[in-house]
Amino acid sequence: MSKTNDILKKVSNQLRPSQEDKRHTEYFAAELMNVATKIAKSYSVIPMLCGSVSKNTWLPNKNELDLFLLFKPSVPRSKLEKDGLELANEIISTMKGKADKKYSEHPYLCGKIKFGRSTFDVDVVPCYDIKNLKKIKSAVDRTPHHVKYVKKKLLLPDDVRLLKQFCKANGIYGADVKTNGFSGYLCELMIIHYGKFSNLIKEAVKWRVPMVLTMNKTNKIKLVEKFEHPFIVIDPVDSNRNVAAAVSPENFYKFVHFVKKFNDNPSEKLFFPAEKKPYTIVEIEKKMKERGTWWYMIGFKKPEIPEDTLYPQMKRGLNSVQKILEHHGFSVMRKDLWLGDSCIYLFEMDVWTTPSITKNIGPNVYTKHAENFLKHYKERNIFIEGDEWVVELEKEYTIALHLLKDLIKKNDNELREKGIPSKIVTNFSKGSVVSGTDVIKMIKYLPEDFRVFMKDWFEKDIDIV
Ligand code: UTP
Ligand code: MN
Ligand code: MN
Repeated sequence: MSKTNDILKKVSNQLRPSQEDKRHTEYFAAELMNVATKIAKSYSVIPMLCGSVSKNTWLPNKNELDLFLLFKPSVPRSKLEKDGLELANEIISTMKGKADKKYSEHPYLCGKIKFGRSTFDVDVVPCYDIKNLKKIKSAVDRTPHHVKYVKKKLLLPDDVRLLKQFCKANGIYGADVKTNGFSGYLCELMIIHYGKFSNLIKEAVKWRVPMVLTMNKTNKIKLVEKFEHPFIVIDPVDSNRNVAAAVSPENFYKFVHFVKKFNDNPSEKLFFPAEKKPYTIVEIEKKMKERGTWWYMIGFKKPEIPEDTLYPQMKRGLNSVQKILEHHGFSVMRKDLWLGDSCIYLFEMDVWTTPSITKNIGPNVYTKHAENFLKHYKERNIFIEGDEWVVELEKEYTIALHLLKDLIKKNDNELREKGIPSKIVTNFSKGSVVSGTDVIKMIKYLPEDFRVFMKDWFEKDIDIV
């Protein structure tokens, strides 16, 4: 047997839940369904076990189940939301669990339920029981159909586990807003498409964007135009949906990169990587000096909102701050955000100081509206270059740090107008800005994870050729 197959077999054996784990999980699932069926009856709702446990594709010790509550399509949405939560609460409390509210398209509950020696997370999600997906009413209505499809088509659940673990180990598993990676269902479809993991990775080294996978013959060019995503995997139960819509270009090529790495040198390490060693302060300082760039850090208290809400707001805020910096003639080379017990924006600048004046090219001397330009800048230094009017204006800021310090002092309204989203604006305005060597000082107070984040900052290399 080849080295690759040897390794994959060995890894597979580690990813398959033990007989005992399997029995324990299935016993819990049966118990849960029992309780759910009894309670749901009085609401005319049908419970259905979805997610990886129902498809036999869960990873050991994940201890997470997805229970869907199928409502009749005639039920109004507000009633589905109200009854859904009520019903979920009843199920979770009957199982003596603790419920936590979560949001996707509509609210649902996540219950923590103790069962024997383990605690299970159970997502209880209300949806519509839709036969014809052209009449879909909410995004989660597809899920029960996904389950039926996968159960019918998937031959090698072990290979889905390989793929999930491969993605997870390399930080690209999950379609959530923070990860922008490969979802469980996408992994299942990829294995169904290629038959097995080893076939998939033989092909995937050659993948380039836009990459299209369809289960039936369709015009690929049309799909690329329609979806405008780097990776397009048409949902076999709904051809209007790209299952890989969440996958970012970076994560698509990270996948290709890690596949290449495995093909070049098959190793278990790509499934179970050693923990990332954080950079030391000295290493960070050295890298920063070597690059000759200048650094700004904005730090503020983390607002108490779910991460799924916080993350997109943080991202929008980050883009807004960059825009403000660039509007004033500074240039951001790289930017990123970090979420721990606090919120951090980090900017690596290639232009952080500017002259006191800036040149503004005005209208052509032959145009009529040149007169307005001349009137407007009457008090300024106006001259002609070639056949254009030019004016030199004083800059409001010559050092980006002053701009940032003034920025966070602004009141919430002004900041919102400048694009700092509403749920972070109050904390943002109470934050602090540091620059240069003070950034290093700040890093000393941040948890180790921040120095892992810095390692990723400096080691972004993606090798696909
Ligand atoms: P999961 O994220 O739990 O995925 O969502 P999974 O297939 O069970 O894989 P793992 O093993 O847990 O990682 C289960 C299904 O529920 C739907 C998705 O369609 C997914 O297929 N879902 C879940 C949502 O649509 N929205 C949610 O917020 C949660
Ligand atoms: Mn799940
Ligand atoms: Mn889930």
